[in-house]
Amino acid sequence: MSLTPDQPSKSGAMTPGGIATELSKLDLPAPSGLRLSLPDKQNSKLKLNSTSPSSERGEGEGGPISAISSAISSVFSPISTQTDDTGDISGPEPEALTAARRKARSESVSEQLSTTLAEMKLPQPERIFGPNEPENNSPDMGNTKQGVNDDDWAKIKLDDDTPEAVKEPKRMTHSRHTSRADAALPNKQPTIKETHEPSGSSTPNVAKEQKVTPFDVEGEVDAEGKDLGIDYDKLTKRFGASLISQDVLDRFERLTGQKPHPLLRRGTFYSHRDFNLILDRYEKGQPFYLYTGRGPSSDSMHMGHLIPFMFTAYLQRVFNVPLVIQLTDDEKYLLERDVKKQAEIMKKIKGKKPIDLLRHYKKMGQDNVKDIIACGFIPEKTFIFSDLAHVGGAFYENVVLMAKTITQSQSRNVFGFTDSDNVGMFHFAAVQATPSFSNSFPQIFGTRDDVPALIPCAIDQDPYFLLTRDAADRLGYKKPALLHSKFLPALQGAGTKMSASKENTAIFMTDDSKKIAKKIKSHAFSGGGATQEEHQKNGGDPDVDIAYQYLSFFEEDDSRMVKLAQEYRAGTLSTSEMKAACIDKIQEVVAEFQKNRAAVTDENLAYFQDSTRKIDPRPRAKESAEAAVPASAA
Ligand code: TRP
Repeated sequence: MSLTPDQPSKSGAMTPGGIATELSKLDLPAPSGLRLSLPDKQNSKLKLNSTSPSSERGEGEGGPISAISSAISSVFSPISTQTDDTGDISGPEPEALTAARRKARSESVSEQLSTTLAEMKLPQPERIFGPNEPENNSPDMGNTKQGVNDDDWAKIKLDDDTPEAVKEPKRMTHSRHTSRADAALPNKQPTIKETHEPSGSSTPNVAKEQKVTPFDVEGEVDAEGKDLGIDYDKLTKRFGASLISQDVLDRFERLTGQKPHPLLRRGTFYSHRDFNLILDRYEKGQPFYLYTGRGPSSDSMHMGHLIPFMFTAYLQRVFNVPLVIQLTDDEKYLLERDVKKQAEIMKKIKGKKPIDLLRHYKKMGQDNVKDIIACGFIPEKTFIFSDLAHVGGAFYENVVLMAKTITQSQSRNVFGFTDSDNVGMFHFAAVQATPSFSNSFPQIFGTRDDVPALIPCAIDQDPYFLLTRDAADRLGYKKPALLHSKFLPALQGAGTKMSASKENTAIFMTDDSKKIAKKIKSHAFSGGGATQEEHQKNGGDPDVDIAYQYLSFFEEDDSRMVKLAQEYRAGTLSTSEMKAACIDKIQEVVAEFQKNRAAVTDENLAYFQDSTRKIDPRPRAKESAEAAVPASAA
């Protein structure tokens, strides 16, 4: 049955058209804060009817929509009516919008409006129903088919429902790497314990809980205001994922014939969802693919940005499967809410309008592609795409399907968004979810929607994929599997963050050998004793030593890592010797990267991003997989 706009649905809930009709009968006041000059009473009605004929949309200069948008642009976008001397051409700014609206709108009008709306008993956002769904299903979240059940949602619900951090970005803090020194020990039982040790809320001295969303990462803070860093076990638990056990690592090695990458066996990639199911498929020769991405927020990429791609390249070579890489240039534009920063960028790029800023993010994405390619993917099996350049066709179909499964309140809970955040942000989750579904890539999978993705990503990206996995069921698609990583600490040590704009926090992939040596010598946080004598007497702590940690990302030789850790603890290995070992390794890795990077041509860029290029999705026979891993990557 097709619902006309004015008919109630079977379940008795109002349809959007019905709501609009009801609203228009109510003669609601116009939002005066937006400075609508209303020609007559008739026009003061809110015209929300989405099915309104074009005559209404074409009301001309005085029509409500154009009046609203011109009011918005005159207040918030200096470009339209004022000179842009301030450099602030960031376009409509949600915070400013809220503030201005609050100021201008008379209290009584808004109260009247909200009372009227409250009396209308507006329905919940429409949800979609799966194939076996009873038609008059209640929108209650406890119903498993129709969403995540209450228990699961409780797990992922943020401790703080409206993280003010989303409004005012603060410094990130992270630390608490599992002991790398211990992880390198042979025969040590699970790299990370399977059992969960009570922490955080049950620790009496935690005054402020940690907060982790894709847009904000903050560790726990104790009563004295001291940063305690990120509790990763707790994060995994909150998201309902599993820690990667030694059994999983052993199985990986048995099946692939490859030793797990240092990042995997030493616990940087420490948590997963359904990785076992991917290994099952690998074992049976069934297809799957890899999916990862980058939000292009800077043109210079540092080691922290590229390590996940290097790891993904390793996985691709081990599994020999297709890989899709999403550049979320759209996300970075939508999510940048720092007005000052945007103004600075506009000045730098001599931008005039918001589209110049948008294109700037798109361009940074393109700058990043060369770096990404240099990480060593299998060209014939890799597709890299920019959202702004690529989204359409089969991909967009899935964006729309996905968008309909996400309600505002879910977005709010999972990402910490508030009413003053722009609607693009609420919607963006659908765009990042979409590459998880194989039929989004017809050039690889045709119309097949039953090939699951394995997504290596930092743990803060998990909320996107929680929504994705929930929606997959309802869309009749495969749930993606995930491998989660911890955050990589800056040179300054645990609890600090590499920043593309702070030269000395990270090793940049453009740094030469001399610079690398200098940065590590003068900035890498040392776990050694304060003086040489003290170090010899009491020894050092490799677990907090950045040189040791950075080395552990790449050093293949476990016995070497164990030896370094033991000698460091004993005080027989000095801080400068530890740093020297790290410098050698990082120089080697960066030099290899730079060699690859220099060889990337514009033709390569076009090749990787060509959406018409066919990619063979078939898995390679297990026996020949070993040959796929070159000695340097093994
Ligand atoms: N949102 C990610 C970022 O800001 C980019 C991204 C898109 C991503 N899709 C992904 C990261 C999949 C990991 C996996 O960097």
